[in-house]
Amino acid sequence: MFRTLVTQAARTPSLAIVGSGPGGFYTAAKVMQLLPGTKVDMFEALPVPHGLVRFGVAPDHPEVKLVMNRFDEVAESPDFRFFGNVTVGKDISVDELKDTYDGVVLSYGASEDRVLNIKNEHVEGVYSARSFVGWYNGHPEHREIGLDLTSTDTAMVVGQGNVALDVARVLLSPIDELRKTDITEHALEALSRSRIKRVHIVGRRGPLQVSFTTKELREMFALPNTKLEIDTELFKDQLAHGQSLLLKNRALKRLLGVLEKEIPTDAIKDAEKFWSLKFLRSPVEIISESNRVKAVKMEINTLEGPTDSQVALGTGSYEEIESGLVFRSIGYKSTPIEGIPFDARRGVVPNVCGRIMDGEQVLDGMYTSGWLKRGPSGVIVSTMQDAFETAGAIAADIKNGKPFLQPTKSSRDIPNLLKERNVRAVSYKDWKNIEKLEFDLGAARGKPREKLTSVEEMLQAVNA
Ligand SMILES: Cc1cc2nc3c(=O)[nH]c(=O)nc-3n(C[C@H](O)[C@H](O)[C@H](O)COP(=O)(O)OP(=O)(O)OC[C@H]3O[C@@H](n4cnc5c(N)ncnc54)[C@H](O)[C@@H]3O)c2cc1C
Ligand SMILES: NC(=O)c1ccc[n+]([C@@H]2O[C@H](COP(=O)([O-])OP(=O)(O)OC[C@H]3O[C@@H](n4cnc5c(N)ncnc54)[C@H](OP(=O)(O)O)[C@@H]3O)[C@@H](O)[C@H]2O)c1
Ligand SMILES: *[C@@H]1O[C@H](CO)[C@@H](O)[C@H](O)[C@H]1NC(C)=O
Repeated sequence: MFRTLVTQAARTPSLAIVGSGPGGFYTAAKVMQLLPGTKVDMFEALPVPHGLVRFGVAPDHPEVKLVMNRFDEVAESPDFRFFGNVTVGKDISVDELKDTYDGVVLSYGASEDRVLNIKNEHVEGVYSARSFVGWYNGHPEHREIGLDLTSTDTAMVVGQGNVALDVARVLLSPIDELRKTDITEHALEALSRSRIKRVHIVGRRGPLQVSFTTKELREMFALPNTKLEIDTELFKDQLAHGQSLLLKNRALKRLLGVLEKEIPTDAIKDAEKFWSLKFLRSPVEIISESNRVKAVKMEINTLEGPTDSQVALGTGSYEEIESGLVFRSIGYKSTPIEGIPFDARRGVVPNVCGRIMDGEQVLDGMYTSGWLKRGPSGVIVSTMQDAFETAGAIAADIKNGKPFLQPTKSSRDIPNLLKERNVRAVSYKDWKNIEKLEFDLGAARGKPREKLTSVEEMLQAVNA
């Protein structure tokens, strides 16, 4: 008997993506390109999309935010749906997503920050860089952080990464420069009254171990009437000891070359504001007065270990640095979500090439991308590259007929399910209405956009 083999019509797969930052959007973009027809539903806890592109990237870096145009293109596809204002783990569970989609991608980033674990870390005047950045960028959670920029003229940033430089630069930028950006109105108002004229940027290791990059360093030197203060002896000494490292690491050599060239040779006379790079200092205690930070007690460190992985070791000598404000900028931190393995030490969901692992076992149909996959470091381009890796893994698994989730429910029912739970999801069309209002409000003030920071304003825009 002769039977024709009916090729089983390949069902177009459906994916749930959790988080709408670069990790989520670039995974969506690549999967939809590799497997046309894939249905993508993206869930975002905040009412508005784009994660740290909107709420992290500094207001004076508009060129970086152009990636939003790329995300808009992705969202225009009829196969894509956006559910903003929906927190996975609260409004809908990961298990429910597993029961509804063929695959689930976790790319919810790193929404907490690391702490120093020192005495008095929580007195008034000590902030995380994350909350300060969220405040000037209009993150709804950080609208009212109660920042007082008038009671002191000195601030300190702990950590020497690019976020630390963002914080210092915003504090020291001329207010009229900031007015031309999309910085929030409440931040402009507070910064226009700021008395801050000195910002210390403190690292536990030396100049060869800074983690900020050259372009961002140059921006510090471009601040008008603002001068660098640095311990020249210490700097030269560290450089002399690191020659072998500099031969191997050209980017670092260039960065330190820029720094060296800009070190003021004469006594500083004509500056109005100052920023300092302090090295080999670990905060051990916040010194407070009436429950407010007054100074930070630092242990002085030396460096030990191989040249390319030196660690800071305390010397048992201490000094105090006066500062009326302290911003801790020592990195962001991801949190676990119920039902998914989490590597608490590295702060990531364990994975191989984006496939989530439970011990040695691959969790079929479960993927991760972005900072949750790799840890809270890397620029948008690195996040994009690793989201592409995850998308490649998803596409390969589908093409190779690897086991996927076996959903029993249809994603068509998601809008109803959310409605039943009184969750008011924001669609991408709603978002574009919010954004249009932001552009209009911005234009009236000569800014690229005026961000809406309250839910009421957003609701009005959505219903307009
Ligand atoms: C202050 C700062 C400035 C930066 N500036 C630059 C820069 O100038 N240039 C550059 O190239 N890179 C910059 N970066 C790095 C860049 O932002 C990251 O590489 C990138 O945003 C990481 O993408 P992600 O998608 O993993 O995370 P995110 O961008 O954080 O996106 C995660 C999203 O998931 C959402 N989410 C969280 N929990 C849930 C949940 N339970 N359910 C649903 N959604 C959830 C969050 O609200 C967020 O929208 C900066 C980073 C920071 C912190
Ligand atoms: N303009 C841009 O392109 C831009 C802007 C902002 C952010 N980003 C990117 O976003 C990512 C995150 O930036 P980030 O600045 O948060 O992180 P980061 O680059 O990892 O810097 C963290 C800093 O904190 C220090 N640190 C960590 N733990 C500490 C502790 N316990 N005590 C004292 N110091 C401690 C680190 O020093 P050690 O090295 O000694 O650990 C390091 O100097 C980076 O990849 C960054 O490049 C890019
Ligand atoms: C977000 O959802 C809550 C209820 O879950 C609702 O009260 C709020 O209005 C929603 N926000 C927007 C902007 O739609």
